[in-house]
Amino acid sequence: MPRRVASGSASAFLAAQVLRDWTGRRHVLLTGRAAAGLWAALRALGWQQQPIGIPANTCYIMLWAIIASGNTPVLLDVDPATGNLGLDSLIGAPRLAAVIPTHLYGLPAPMQVISDWARATHTLVIEDAAQAAGLTADGRPAGSWGDFSLFSFGPGKIADVEGGGALLTDDERLAHDIKQVLASAPWWSEQLVGLTDQWNQLYWALHQFETENPALPGLYPRLYDIYRDLIVYRLPPSWWSDLPDALRELPAKVRHRAAIAALYDDRLNHAPLHTLPRPAGAAVWRYPLLAPPEQRDRLLRDLWQQGFHEVTRWYPSLRPMLAALCPDLHTPPTPTADRLGAAIINLPVATDDEAAERLAAAIWRFLDSE
Ligand SMILES: Cc1ncc(COP(=O)(O)O)c(C=O)c1O
Repeated sequence: MPRRVASGSASAFLAAQVLRDWTGRRHVLLTGRAAAGLWAALRALGWQQQPIGIPANTCYIMLWAIIASGNTPVLLDVDPATGNLGLDSLIGAPRLAAVIPTHLYGLPAPMQVISDWARATHTLVIEDAAQAAGLTADGRPAGSWGDFSLFSFGPGKIADVEGGGALLTDDERLAHDIKQVLASAPWWSEQLVGLTDQWNQLYWALHQFETENPALPGLYPRLYDIYRDLIVYRLPPSWWSDLPDALRELPAKVRHRAAIAALYDDRLNHAPLHTLPRPAGAAVWRYPLLAPPEQRDRLLRDLWQQGFHEVTRWYPSLRPMLAALCPDLHTPPTPTADRLGAAIINLPVATDDEAAERLAAAIWRFLDSE
């Protein structure tokens, strides 16, 4: 909670300048979190009940932000070859007012193709670069593509200052209106710290079991009511003190993460497991490792028992949560995203060589014991 004292306003200015320099965008708004930027933009557009397409396995908070803004989430399937939205996700999708291509796991989404499709169909593009600061997609920096684009600086992100986000756009009017909307958001508070902690623990436990126990998602509507205040808030100027340095350190961090990912590639090369392809320009958020679904949870629990608690299973399919939150919505099937959600674990890449070697060895120990 407001824990930094250095000149926050100057830091916010500097951080926004760095983001502008990277992306060439005209307007950068620092937001309480990426989801707050999405919510505020949809409100500023004045949209209600508009269909907004998201990958079916993105972060649940994007779903919450769309619902809280009064609009309708549409789950889109991902491309089996890349794990990201592609043209096939969009062709044949119901009509969309906006699509949110997401650089999932720090792997670049095919922004050129998606932008061309969006222009031809008059669909707004909201680029979700929450996990992808420092990434390049089709030769352009993350954050430079969308009608507006979102970054996150929350826990575990590549530029992590424990919270915060940014919204970038070239649209002066939209930037002005979003600023107005955000000005009414509540400030970050001790109460929100407590709620965040509670919700993280509950969601961590719930999403482990929501597909095997179909009664569990029935809790989500009540939980959404209790925790929806976590979608939108403002951070005090003091929050941004560390952000300029975190952004400047980014290229070195991205290089380090690429080296750790290459280490996992090498050590797990002959394992009966797969990773998603890393196109040029990736800025790896975590290393996605795909195990057969019947083996995935055993592998994960084994690794946790061996002390590797940083290994996670993000992101599960959002279908059970959406079905519970919006029971009247018809959601087209999303088999690839569901399959990916059931198969994935993520290995840490913000770690050192020795820890990565130990983790790869632990994975082999598990595989040899099966
Ligand atoms: C892909 C993706 N999009 C959006 C978000 C939301 O970011 P924030 O937590 O800053 O709202 C996250 C956060 O984990 C994410 O992983």
